[in-house]
Amino acid sequence: MRLSQCHNFHDFRRLARRRLPGPIFNYIDGAAEDETAYRRNTAAFDEVDLLPHVLRGTEEIDLSAQVMGLKLDLPFFLAPTALQRLFHHQGERAAAAAAAKYGTMFGVSSLGTVSLEEVRAAHSTPQVYQFYFHRDRGLNREMLARAKESGVDAMMLTVDSITGGNRERDKRTGFSIPFRLTLGGIAQFMLKPAWGINYVTHQKFSLPQLDAHIDMGGSTTSIGRYFTEMLDPTMNWDDLAEMVEAWDGKFCLKGVIHPDDAARAADAGCDAVILSNHGGRQLDGARAPFDGLAEVLDTAGDRIEVIMDSGIQRGTHIVKALAMGAKAVGIGRAYLFALAAAGQPGVERMLGLLKEELTRDMRLMGAARVADLGRDNLRLR
Ligand code: FNR
Ligand code: LAC
Repeated sequence: MRLSQCHNFHDFRRLARRRLPGPIFNYIDGAAEDETAYRRNTAAFDEVDLLPHVLRGTEEIDLSAQVMGLKLDLPFFLAPTALQRLFHHQGERAAAAAAAKYGTMFGVSSLGTVSLEEVRAAHSTPQVYQFYFHRDRGLNREMLARAKESGVDAMMLTVDSITGGNRERDKRTGFSIPFRLTLGGIAQFMLKPAWGINYVTHQKFSLPQLDAHIDMGGSTTSIGRYFTEMLDPTMNWDDLAEMVEAWDGKFCLKGVIHPDDAARAADAGCDAVILSNHGGRQLDGARAPFDGLAEVLDTAGDRIEVIMDSGIQRGTHIVKALAMGAKAVGIGRAYLFALAAAGQPGVERMLGLLKEELTRDMRLMGAARVADLGRDNLRLR
């Protein structure tokens, strides 16, 4: 299977599965416990039908969107994700370059494998920095100052990960950083020698956002342990308000599900909330963002921008979220599988396919621009 044979999310997922050692593929593909939230995230879109308008034809389709005052050429962006150089040796360099080519926003993760300064210097397109709140307040202050210094456009605080999700696939494979694998896991790495050669012949693995503060290299640290041991499980709304004030710039809160929390985020001074269950990777059974989107918008949509992620694989999923009232949507696995499958050309192809789908879908919907989509275009089954 070649890149030119990848026409959608499922094709890229298949190719990624072929290229990656099992433990890495399963880290990306997996979710918490029974993975019901993961499945529900995408299934939720099928509960709503599209009602296109006919005879509203137009030559030009404008896909641009605006979030937190930032102009995006596309109404979807690359959500922050960890460890990208494990998936492809170019990691964030490839994904950020593809995002820039398409004029959309890139999220740099705290657990990124390329520094936020490097990504910032490489592209002038919008960038957010995703932050985890640590027990060590001094560390939080230092990281905030560093992010400010780098010139990122917005701060994104993730609040659904104050402890590690119960990722049973990772437990089974022994996935951790650096690798300490079960015997079965080692066998799976040996099955993908091309990945292994690539990995050892390129820049040594590191977490440049955290390296100066956290010894991730010395002893084996699982993502779950980082969350559980380093992050502050007592974080509250006062801490958020303090952080928003300290940041003194565009700020969004990621991992909100409850409508009341969206309202509280507005009270705390956030510019946007990202309705997200972390792609089903944290609390299994957490409501699918698309299922809850209307309620969140009705509760707080007049006071705060509402963005969503989790489960998006298709142009029509994006159309449905936008028609409901989301300002934009984030994609995660959709670009990670493409990255793992083929690096930057892979991500570019995936973004291009989504853009093409979306352009076609908008034309078929009779919508020349995002603002032309509305709830009259949707019906619950
Ligand atoms: C993530 N996500 C994530 N979120 C975050 O705030 N910081 C992070 O470091 C990561 N890392 C990460 C790694 C991997 C492998 C995945 C799949 C996801 C969550 C991400 O930002 C987003 O919320 C989900 O990926 C959206 O769901 P879909 O699009 O993957 O279904
Ligand atoms: C994950 C983290 C890193 O979902 O957010 O794996």
